[in-house]
Amino acid sequence: MKVGILTGGGDCPGLNAVIRAITRKGLQEGFEIIGFKDGWQGLIENKFINLNLESVSGILPRGGTILGTSRTNPYKNEEDIKKVKEGFKNIDALIAIGGEDTLGVASKLFKQGLNVVGVPKTIDNDLSCTDYTFGFDTAINIVTEAIDRLHTTAESHHRAMIIEVMGRHSGWIAIEGGIAGGADVILIPEIPFDIEEICGLIKKRQKRGRNFSIVVVAEGAKPKEGDFVLQEEKRDAFGHVHLGGIGNILAKEIEKRTGFETRVVVLGHLQRGGSPSAFDRILGTRLGIKAVELVKEKRFGQMASLQGNKIVSVPLEDAVGTLKVVDKEFYEVAKVFFG
Ligand code: F6P
Repeated sequence: MKVGILTGGGDCPGLNAVIRAITRKGLQEGFEIIGFKDGWQGLIENKFINLNLESVSGILPRGGTILGTSRTNPYKNEEDIKKVKEGFKNIDALIAIGGEDTLGVASKLFKQGLNVVGVPKTIDNDLSCTDYTFGFDTAINIVTEAIDRLHTTAESHHRAMIIEVMGRHSGWIAIEGGIAGGADVILIPEIPFDIEEICGLIKKRQKRGRNFSIVVVAEGAKPKEGDFVLQEEKRDAFGHVHLGGIGNILAKEIEKRTGFETRVVVLGHLQRGGSPSAFDRILGTRLGIKAVELVKEKRFGQMASLQGNKIVSVPLEDAVGTLKVVDKEFYEVAKVFFG
């Protein structure tokens, strides 16, 4: 069998672990493995590299993806999708590694009769039907370390420190990074915030002698009244706007309403960079191996997924239908430590 791989959407620590696992396991099964460059763009332009033992040697600890990635959506353009389908004539199956957008395309292609399986990837951890996506653990460790560092400077200067983290539609990074870092307030897209309440929590801390506060805010968090804080009006090929800036708006309001000197740190793409954690390397490896097994068993239209401690498979269609968001119960855990 000739099997293609591609990595699409935002890059993420652990992608190379998946590529390595698919290549190593695929070669053991007697498959030929090729890697398309830059996500769906590679299939459109027929740009690929042959993957062998040498090309995946030493990539396990490396962040990013050796295949490159893009946010190309082939369904945006009739010509592009025609070329993608043409590309399938040169392979027996495709393993698409990506989040809701990349796997959304994979799911549509499967429905149109093509041999595709999926591997879930995103630092946001918001893909349904899997307990975790690789990349998330590394990201929350980066957030936790950043909060630890900001704690000491916030305390020395008696400041409020706002840490803006990624998370467009879901607050997984904010809530898990925030709980691990001991944040005093955590704001997530799922639960609109009230600025007066936040200021009240900061003042409450001051009353008990804590003259500093750590506020973690997801980039997609929004006030009870008002909308997203947009950095750019421009949308990508999947219709997503480029978010960012809520931290600065919050900082001004907090300083004005509490009198506390306030500073902002936007962690941005630092959360996606660098070497994957041990958890992400292992999860990526297990998911990659499962994807090869699915191809071998010709169980197309499926996505490898983590459920409990088992790697199982779920229909791609179910995984991309709705996003997995933070539930109220989990938010209540974080709230115990607010203020
Ligand atoms: O989906 C992953 C993600 O990191 C989001 O959390 C974030 O909103 C977005 O990608 C940023 O995308 P870009 O790399 O295009 O700036």
